[in-house]
Amino acid sequence: DIDRRVEALLKQMTLEEKAGQLAQYSVGTPTGPGTGRDDYETLVRTGAAGSLLNVVGAQETNRYQRIAIEQSRLKIPLLFGFDVIHGHRTTLPIPLAMASSFDTELVERAMRLAGSEAAADGIRWAFSPMVDIARDARWGRIAEGSGEDPLLGAAMARAYVRGYQGASLAEPTSVAASVKHFAGYGGAEGGRDYNTVDMSDVSLRQVYLPPFQAAVEEGAATLMSAFNTLNGVPATANSYLMTDILRKEWGFNGFVVSDWTAVAELVNHGIALDGPAAAHRALTAGVEMDMESHLYGPEIPRLVREGKLGQAVVDEAVRRVLRVKFALGLFEHPLVDEKAAAYVATPEKRELARRMAEESIVLLKNEGGVLPLPSSGRKIALVGPLADAPVDMLGVWSAKGEPRDAVTLRAALEHRLADGKGTLRYARGTGVLGADTSGFQEAVAAAAASEVVIAALGEDTSMSGEAASRTRIDLPGNQLQLLEALAATGKPVVLIVFSGRPLALTEAQVHATAIVQAWQPGIEAGHALTNLLWGEVNFSARLPVTFPRSLGQVPLYYNHFNTGRPAGKTDLTRPPAGPAEKYVSRYLDERNTPLYPFGYGLSYTTFDFTPPTPSASTLSARAVQKQGQDVLRVKTQVRNTGKVAGTVVAQLYLRIQGASTAQPVRQLAGFQRVALAPGESRTLEFTLGFKELSFFDSRASRVVEPGTRYDLWVGDSSEATQHASFTME
Ligand code: IFM
Repeated sequence: DIDRRVEALLKQMTLEEKAGQLAQYSVGTPTGPGTGRDDYETLVRTGAAGSLLNVVGAQETNRYQRIAIEQSRLKIPLLFGFDVIHGHRTTLPIPLAMASSFDTELVERAMRLAGSEAAADGIRWAFSPMVDIARDARWGRIAEGSGEDPLLGAAMARAYVRGYQGASLAEPTSVAASVKHFAGYGGAEGGRDYNTVDMSDVSLRQVYLPPFQAAVEEGAATLMSAFNTLNGVPATANSYLMTDILRKEWGFNGFVVSDWTAVAELVNHGIALDGPAAAHRALTAGVEMDMESHLYGPEIPRLVREGKLGQAVVDEAVRRVLRVKFALGLFEHPLVDEKAAAYVATPEKRELARRMAEESIVLLKNEGGVLPLPSSGRKIALVGPLADAPVDMLGVWSAKGEPRDAVTLRAALEHRLADGKGTLRYARGTGVLGADTSGFQEAVAAAAASEVVIAALGEDTSMSGEAASRTRIDLPGNQLQLLEALAATGKPVVLIVFSGRPLALTEAQVHATAIVQAWQPGIEAGHALTNLLWGEVNFSARLPVTFPRSLGQVPLYYNHFNTGRPAGKTDLTRPPAGPAEKYVSRYLDERNTPLYPFGYGLSYTTFDFTPPTPSASTLSARAVQKQGQDVLRVKTQVRNTGKVAGTVVAQLYLRIQGASTAQPVRQLAGFQRVALAPGESRTLEFTLGFKELSFFDSRASRVVEPGTRYDLWVGDSSEATQHASFTME
């Protein structure tokens, strides 16, 4: 039915109206470098704009929508897009934090909430999820994705799409997802945003594409093309990516929007001499909608009339855009209810935001069991620039989030310690950046007069996200110095790190008795943190990204290849004693290992695992290829060996050896969150199919090969030790 309606409409459209459907303009606060202002109302009235971004709110979107559906010739509704990334008005933790939960069901619920709030505000299109695999902590956009692992990234990508798009796009609470940034953006050289990306086809397919493919399989309506070049061809003009892989291999039915001015930027990349040539390249490669380049609208009709562009290419692009508009039910329900649109912060929304934060915050260190804090009677010093910074709790891309909704650590502590349950001494101590030490004295005095110090340090919101790359990833400004001064009082220091990237905490770790990685936790930051610090809720999050010891190790990720000269058991903390220790893959001044590995996170209890038992000791490569799914089951028993209830993220890793291409030393093959009472054990089963057991050969085909050995490990980090193996014949 949709296709019939699309064809009927297409027949009535002029070339200008067709080009209009492919043009998107930003009205409101820009989210990229300024472009020429336009008379947006006229653009809409004349059918020259198919979509607007950054217009938000029932009244504002309705105002433009009325012009489209009442005054434009064909009355085609506008599609409003917005950066709903981790919540619309109810701000949840940033995506990197949510990935730490390994809880796809909760993330799906969280994104359902985000989408429904956006939809009530007239936004039926979220520029999310950002599924770029990121292995470089310098890159500011690492905050927006799900970390370094393709399997976790793919699982999260599916959860986001399910949450946004619901059972049907036509539900008024559903929004179309825009999976971004296609593709390879996370591989920017030097971690500098927008920079060149060069990688093998095998890496592209094995590491960077799985989350995109998963999102497409889940039915994602749209994708956004990336800013970067990929192997010399800008992603926004890359027909290998957008036509060969996305459409032909994956059968993608939706449309691709460019990133902000990415079409015009093809001139800067040097693959187009002017705007018309850039528009031609982008459209023919597979970008159906031009975000803010102001090129498709005027240039497409001209290119067609000059005989440089086939009408069929334009029609196909318009079809794809219209299909999404019909699927969203925009023709039936173009307007939103302005009376119902007022935001209500229900307790359920806060509860979801709090649970999401509690599941996202990672306990990295807990020396001498300083945490949990005793329930009452404590004298606490709260120090640091992030102890009372609402904006920094919301985090990067906080959409319509309101700082006044955010409960800071200070507010939550004041509340908790009221009625004589303890005393709180607060001192900011220093800023996030800068060298001013004038607040140190007050902070140290507060620490000296208390029994325990909570230090809220890290990065502010502006240091993460787009165009926020850094060449230093330790605690910024003089925060380390402050931490040192606090530790010198001899009081235990609980360091709470707020950041949108893994920081190098090697020095900080020396001065902190406990370390809690809080990321940018959203509006329920303070409540979630205090619940965890007091042990009313147990920590269950695990790192979705490796924490390096120092910047020089970056990029550092757990699923790396071995080398021909691995360091093995060499002691890398001292200079090489002889050739056997020298001629190995190492640094002279740093270990190879991370400070905290992928998948790692502590709990107030402990868990142990029995060695994995695969359902077969030999598999047939041919049968795996044929059967596809569920060809091997791997069992393990996990037990809560401590005194309190807790949730473990059970992780299964595998390594393939003897294959025609080198494979990672380990790769995640499955994970499960398991809640266990003290002493309780549970048998877990992981199912592996072709997808998990296969890899890419040198021609970038997905294969399983006979004569290979598979090692398996289970445990609760990428350093899991319980092991078994099987062979593929
Ligand atoms: O969605 C974003 C994208 O991630 C980066 N550039 C701007 C877009 C629209 O705001």
